[in-house]
Amino acid sequence: MSQLLVTHIGELVSLAPLAKEQRCTQIVEQDLGVLSNAWLAIEDGKVLKLGSGPIPEELQGYPKLNAGGGLVLPGLVDCHTHPIFGGDRSHEFAARLSGKTYQDIAAEGGGIQSTIRHSRTASDTELDEGCRRNLKRFLEHGVTTVECKSGYGQSPQEEIRMLRILKKLAEEGPQTLSITYLGLHAKAYDYQDKTHFIEEMTAALKTIQADNLAEWVDAFVERGYFEVEDCERFFSEAQRLGFKIRIHADEFADSRAAGAAAQWQAYSADHLEEASVEGIKAMADSGVVAVLLPGTSIYSKIKFAQAQGFLDQNCAVALATDFNPGSCQIDNLPLIASLGALHCGLSCAQAIAAVSFVAAKSLGLSECKGALAPGYDGDFIIHPLQSKEQWIADFGRHKPSHVFLNGAPAISENPS
Ligand code: NIG
Ligand code: FE
Repeated sequence: MSQLLVTHIGELVSLAPLAKEQRCTQIVEQDLGVLSNAWLAIEDGKVLKLGSGPIPEELQGYPKLNAGGGLVLPGLVDCHTHPIFGGDRSHEFAARLSGKTYQDIAAEGGGIQSTIRHSRTASDTELDEGCRRNLKRFLEHGVTTVECKSGYGQSPQEEIRMLRILKKLAEEGPQTLSITYLGLHAKAYDYQDKTHFIEEMTAALKTIQADNLAEWVDAFVERGYFEVEDCERFFSEAQRLGFKIRIHADEFADSRAAGAAAQWQAYSADHLEEASVEGIKAMADSGVVAVLLPGTSIYSKIKFAQAQGFLDQNCAVALATDFNPGSCQIDNLPLIASLGALHCGLSCAQAIAAVSFVAAKSLGLSECKGALAPGYDGDFIIHPLQSKEQWIADFGRHKPSHVFLNGAPAISENPS
């Protein structure tokens, strides 16, 4: 039996009230379940107990780790990333600085098509190593659960190759990976006909299911990429085979994707800068989590999604990096939490929940991840900061000194 007692915690942000009620809306400060002068007991990889003040008699014999008066948070959850790809598109960022838009660059054959070209010619080892490096950087920022999308193969064979690499990385750990087949990202340059492309990507679902390569499916539902109608068959076949849905929705224009996400019973709709009020209402009614991606707004110079429009309708709001080679190379989820608070308009409590419990909810993991409550996975981080206010004002400047997964150290003494 493995045991651990974390002592001398200055502030422990448990989010236990949200975990208890499985609630992701109407989040206020009390919902963070903050304990001062606290301790946290882990047994067999799970949270056993937590509290403040004197350590109970029965825990006295546990091996101890002194948190030095620091801040403890649940391991963070990044619920939208594109970590596996070949090549580098930094020159596109420079082109945007000279006035080009994301869409201009795509129209010239750059953007997603450029990454498809480079990913297809990258070897398995190159893709594996690149992805591994990205996951390691997420971990250094305290991210213990990561949603990972394919999407830069855009042929059945290449998508399956990338999903197999992701599956291998998931099996190796240490993070928990939640894998998504982003089959409809952008019709690849070597397909003439969109309908034929969609048919092939839909047919690939059978192999992906048989080999258990992904849990989720995704599509870029956006003008110039895939319309709602284009996705119907892909998603209905995916659902028939047992996949769950998350989508890229209404980033550059209102493509009626938010409402469609509700109809498809998606777990999340992401981006949503241009989502309509009706779409947001439908999402709230169906329990679809809105995943806002403020890093992409900064990086691609588009408007920020405003959280208030979602909160007013009681729609749950998560935040994620959208880490990818083109529209956001930010791999620092704490920075995204601060940007989301500032630019999307979330309170400190809402922003913290958005990168932990609510993000876990969007991945169907809210009964084991994103909070520190008895029975939850022993995924937690220790920060050399004193309070949640310091953390949100820090813009990801300090890395956690310790990152634990299932009660075991993945990082101890991270240089901050
Ligand atoms: O989420 N929107 C579509 N996909 C990515 C961008 C991919 C890329 O530019 O390579 C996104 O922003
Ligand atoms: Fe994305």
